[in-house]
Order: sequence, then structure tokens, then C-alpha cells
Amino acid sequence: MHVRIEPGGRLQGTTRVPGDKSISHRWLMLAATAVGRSALMEVPPSLDVRSTAAALAALTTEARPALQSWASYDADTAEGHRSTWNVKVDGDTNGPPPVSLEVEGKGRKGLTVPDRALDCGNSGTSMRLLMGLVSSAAFMTALEGDASLSSRPMERVAMPLREMGAEIDTDRGHAPVVVHGRPLHGIVFEPTVPSAQVKSAVLLAGLDADGLTVVRESVPTRDHTERALLALGAPIEVGETVAVGRFQHEGFSAVVPGDVSSAAFLVAAAALTGSELTVAGVGLNPTRTRVFEVMERMGITVERSIRHHELGEPVGDIHVPPTAGVGPVRVEANELPLVVDEVPVLALLAAHAPSDSWFTGAGELKLKESDRLTGIAEAIRGLGGHAAVEGDDLVVAGGGLEGGRGDARGDHRMAMALVVSGLAARGAVEVDGVEHAEVSFPGFVRTLVALGATIEPVAGE
Ligand code: S3P
Repeated sequence: MHVRIEPGGRLQGTTRVPGDKSISHRWLMLAATAVGRSALMEVPPSLDVRSTAAALAALTTEARPALQSWASYDADTAEGHRSTWNVKVDGDTNGPPPVSLEVEGKGRKGLTVPDRALDCGNSGTSMRLLMGLVSSAAFMTALEGDASLSSRPMERVAMPLREMGAEIDTDRGHAPVVVHGRPLHGIVFEPTVPSAQVKSAVLLAGLDADGLTVVRESVPTRDHTERALLALGAPIEVGETVAVGRFQHEGFSAVVPGDVSSAAFLVAAAALTGSELTVAGVGLNPTRTRVFEVMERMGITVERSIRHHELGEPVGDIHVPPTAGVGPVRVEANELPLVVDEVPVLALLAAHAPSDSWFTGAGELKLKESDRLTGIAEAIRGLGGHAAVEGDDLVVAGGGLEGGRGDARGDHRMAMALVVSGLAARGAVEVDGVEHAEVSFPGFVRTLVALGATIEPVAGE
């Protein structure tokens, strides 16, 4: 789908964003392997989260109908057209309606042999965490994904799981992956690449392993798995190292907080248009909010107030007062894992600063849903700005963008970053592939339009 964004104008109001994708994957997996009933509210209809729900449906019996019907919820939305665009905007900025998903779990040992390969679609988190979850099962599980996911590295997860005792085949390091579940034993794992997905896969495997499973990270990554396990009463120690022992949890109820990475796109949109905006009910986990500290270094005020906690996750509101202008920034390699998903939007913001910005040691971005490092630099140049990739560093020259046309390259965060940058370019910006926003932020364009942005579909395409 192809849209045209007119620059200028102001956004105004209070809005919400769909539930957090990272948290939803984990809570769904925990609900499907709990003993007893769980109730999850505000699980987002994001395509990635539905991939996890569908995979878990294939691995369960009692929970299958609920997970299956959730996974196939609204086929029109799945194509990305309806919820992103063809929805009447009537001033309702409350986002998608809350939906409660009731999952009846039979415990980790109650997982059943899937009758087909688990299709993880575009979702790296689904595939990597599921590998950990099934690595102790008494059966074999095949996992596959789309072309983008099949090009992403899987040995980084397979290696520690093999060390724990599982037998895992990859296709020269990539999906399809086949996991032959085995009895597992704990290990001390020191990841060479900072990755919350790999850490979480190992911790999930550790819940069904003999002895202690220890993960020693040299650079911290998002800690949603640790927080949920702690809240569920697991024998887990969380500090500079994380250690977990065997544990079977019970069913639980929780409301998924709004996705802070989605909120970051709205904060950037407000900052670029000098608008005042509130995003309510957002997850404010400190391992996810570094993006706002980076934005603050760029001169954007992002007020955060925590209101309550859900399964160990802080939840609250974000308020952005009008911003006078955006400054340049340096993001160093040791900070990068904490903003790994936000580099596209930060870089597009940086293109509007008066001078150069640097993102150093950002090589991991080449291995995301697309090669985001090259994609960002090309997108900025395509809109009349200047940016270059130097080894693993991205340098973005400021000075603003002229306008023009950009392509999402099948990547949800690239689609949203391009749309947001169009709000402050000197001329109109057209974006191809905006439907990919559905992967993490169903209703993204609709939300921006409801807040006052001028974004229109380009006829005939
Ligand atoms: C995620 C971790 C990050 C992130 C991804 C979600 C997670 O990946 O990019 O969008 O939910 O654990 P890595 O851990 O591989 O960096």
C-alpha cells in the first residue's frame, strides 16, 4: 500500500498504542505452558503476536481453540489494509478494542506434538523463544518463517540450547529449524551478541532443566522474561547475572501494556511537528525506555509517569510538551542494545537536526527484519538528506529532508519511520509498503490521522 504524507500541521490529543509485542510473545508462551487458566487482556492483533498464538495453538490441546481463533482474528486486518487504512476516523483515538484471551494450560509437560511445522511468519522473537520452549519436549518440532526470517541467524540460539542437551538442526544457520526435544541440564551462558531473544530462549529452556541455568550478559537487554518469571514465583535471581531453576508456574491474569516502541514513533511525530501529545497506558520498563533518554539528549522532553504494574512490568503515561527543534545525538555501541528497535525512528529524527548524528556499533541492525542500517541510509538519501554506513556505524547528516518517495522494504519499523519523517519534510513524502506497520502497530496510520496528520492513500496503487 502506498500513501502520501503532507508535511506541516499539528497533532493533538491523548492516544493509546496496541499492546507490547515483546511482552505478548512471552506472556502467551507462559499462559500456554501454565497449569490452569490464564486471562490476557489487550493482546495486540499484531501479525507477529498472531504467529506466536498460531504456533502455540499447534502445541496445545485445551488452549488450542482460543489461541487458534485469536491467531486468525479478522482476516482482513491480517492483510494489513483494513486496520491501517480503511477505518472511519471519528475522533476516537483509543486504538484497538481490548480483547481478553483465555488460555487453558496443562503445564509444560502438557505440550503436544504439532501436526505441522510451526509457521513463525516474520517474527524472530516467535521462532527464537519457541526454540527454547520446545527444547525439552518429548517430541520433535519444526519451525519455519517467511523469506526475511529465513535469512536471519538462528545458530546463536541453537548453540546454547544444544549445550543444554537439545538436538537442533538449522539450515546452514538459518530456518527451517528442527528441534528434537531432550532432557536438559543447566549451563552458564555468556552471550557473545547481546540479545534478549537468545537470553529468553535459554531461560525458558532453563525452567525445564536440571540444575541452575545462568545467563551472564555483558551488555543488558530487555528483561521482560525475568520480570514475568519473578512475578509468577519462579526461583529466579536477577542481577548482573540471571539464574533460574526448574519451575512449573500456574495460570495468571494480566493486561498487556501499550508497546513503548510503537509509542516512540508517536513521540517522534509530536516532536517533529512541535505538537503536544499524551500516550496513555504504555509499558515503561527501564530496559525499553532508553529511547526517550536519547530523545531527551536531542532536546525533546518526554515526561513519563508510572501508574501501576502488570506482572512485574511498570505501566504509565507519556506526555510530550511542544518541542522547539531537534538536535543531533551520539548513540554509542554499549547503549545500542537498549534502543535496537528504535534506531530507524531516531535516525530519521536526526535527519532533521542541524548537524551530524552518530549511531556506533550498530551492526546488529543489518540482521533485523531487513538490513536496517543500509535501509535507513538509503531512505534518508532518497528523501533528499545525507546519511552513510561506515562499517557498523551509521552517520546521519542533519539539515532536514526535501521529500520524495521511500520504500518500507517489507519492514514494519522502516514503514513507520518513513511516515513520521514525512510530517516534517520540506515537501510531501510518499511511502510504499505502509501495511507492514501491522506487524507491530495495527492501526498506525489511522492513529496518526486521528491525531491530525494528513496522510492519504495514493489512488490506483
Ligand atoms: C526482542 C528482542 C530484540 C528486538 C526484537 C524483540 C524480544 O531482538 O530487536 O524486536 O522480544 O526479545 P534481539 O534480542 O535479537 O536483539
